Amino acid sequence: MTENKTPKESVTLTDNSSGKSIELPLLAGTIGPRVMDCRSLYSQTGHFTYDPGYTSTGSCRSAITYIDGDEGVLLHRGYAIDELAEHSDFPEVAYLILKGELPNAEQKTKFIKDITYHSMLNEQISFFYRGFRRDSHPMAVICGVVGAMAAFYHDSTDINDPHQRMVASYRLIAKMPTVVAWAYKYSLGQPFLYPQNDLSYAGNFLRMMFATPCEDYKVSPVLEKAMDRILILHADHEQNASTSTVRLAGSSGANPFACIAAGIASLWGPAHGGANEAVLQMLGQIGSVDRIPEFIKKAKDPNDSFRLMGFGHRVYKNYDPRAKIMQQTCHEVLNELGIKDEPLLKLAVELERIALEDEYFVSRKLFPNVDFYSGIIFRAMGIPTQVFTCLFALARTVGWIAQWNEMLADSEQKIGRPRQLYVGSAPRKFVPMGKRA
Ligand code: CMC
Repeated sequence: MTENKTPKESVTLTDNSSGKSIELPLLAGTIGPRVMDCRSLYSQTGHFTYDPGYTSTGSCRSAITYIDGDEGVLLHRGYAIDELAEHSDFPEVAYLILKGELPNAEQKTKFIKDITYHSMLNEQISFFYRGFRRDSHPMAVICGVVGAMAAFYHDSTDINDPHQRMVASYRLIAKMPTVVAWAYKYSLGQPFLYPQNDLSYAGNFLRMMFATPCEDYKVSPVLEKAMDRILILHADHEQNASTSTVRLAGSSGANPFACIAAGIASLWGPAHGGANEAVLQMLGQIGSVDRIPEFIKKAKDPNDSFRLMGFGHRVYKNYDPRAKIMQQTCHEVLNELGIKDEPLLKLAVELERIALEDEYFVSRKLFPNVDFYSGIIFRAMGIPTQVFTCLFALARTVGWIAQWNEMLADSEQKIGRPRQLYVGSAPRKFVPMGKRA
């Protein structure tokens, strides 16, 4: 990690009530804005910072992913997302995110072997699935199954042992396609399919989703490539809500399976990973192009909680670079599947066009995000809406586990413990029952 170790610049803060001034150092990363090191703020002033939603807070040092939201830039370990999406594949990007460098041919072969070796789930887990209702939301199922993996793989839960940490990381990356595909199969009442290790990571997942014991599934190279690209585009995204959740859970020393389950729970929300499912629901609700203005009006109304799902981003105030690639992939998939005039795609394109011209969206820099097109691709591939967010979780597992490993190796890591601005009652005397109003 590159950082200016002897910061020459600082910020001087003056407390107007006491007249006391303190100097807080500015830390510089490799690229991006400098950060004010306010770790000594409380000890020097007795004040905390107040930052709901952490809009101005850097919670950690990280060398994994860099985002410039104003310029629409996303880099993993220094490599631009569009180059990775075009020239690389998911296992290679997973290796890069996890280990810091692109693998050479030998390293790549070994990594693929390692993550395929672990792709099978303990057979006992198949009985665990049977405890869920068939109509459970698959995110609820995968959250439960991943959390329960700590009980099945207890030999990789010692976070102080680097070997166990690596085994748990490989297990999670390798088994997630099986976990997700089985959640889908369970919802259909179909038998589970075992992984087939001579297929690619994406191809194996598609086969486990769509083959049955009676009929094999021939993986289309175009769909396999599209799925691989979708996995790359979702692999990591810096300190978003679910990643911060994984780090916070991990900061207490919790085991990796529990931490990833916590990440899945956070991802599920419609403001985060659940947005891809919500986009499809919204397009269905809009129904036809002529009703778009009505929904744009609702989205702009401050008294209406309706938001255009798939639009806006906490960090990107420019086009989400992943959304551009996703849009292109969407067209490739629809062509391959011979889907012409897909009404939802037409609706999406028109919605995007109108929103991008509307002053409300333009002035607030609300562009389509990665979830806007991914839902349409998944739908075209035959993946049911409820499974969309599981796919996001499957791809993001590599980012979560890399961030978790990075946090544990960081000598500055402490248990995450924010403070608060207390606005409750001041101290008061206990009131006996007979005297209460
Ligand atoms: N539709 C209508 N108005 C919006 C939208 C939207 N999708 N997003 C933001 N705004 C408005 C918001 O009402 C506010 O307006 P005003 O300044 O007049 O009060 C302004 O834009 C700023 O919004 P904010 O809520 O302060 O922005 P935020 O950074 O807290 O929220 C967000 C970011 C992603 C939660 C939000 O844009 C949103 O809810 N989008 C829809 C859900 C979505 O697509 N989520 C996926 C995000 S990308 C993938 C991922 O990270 O998982």
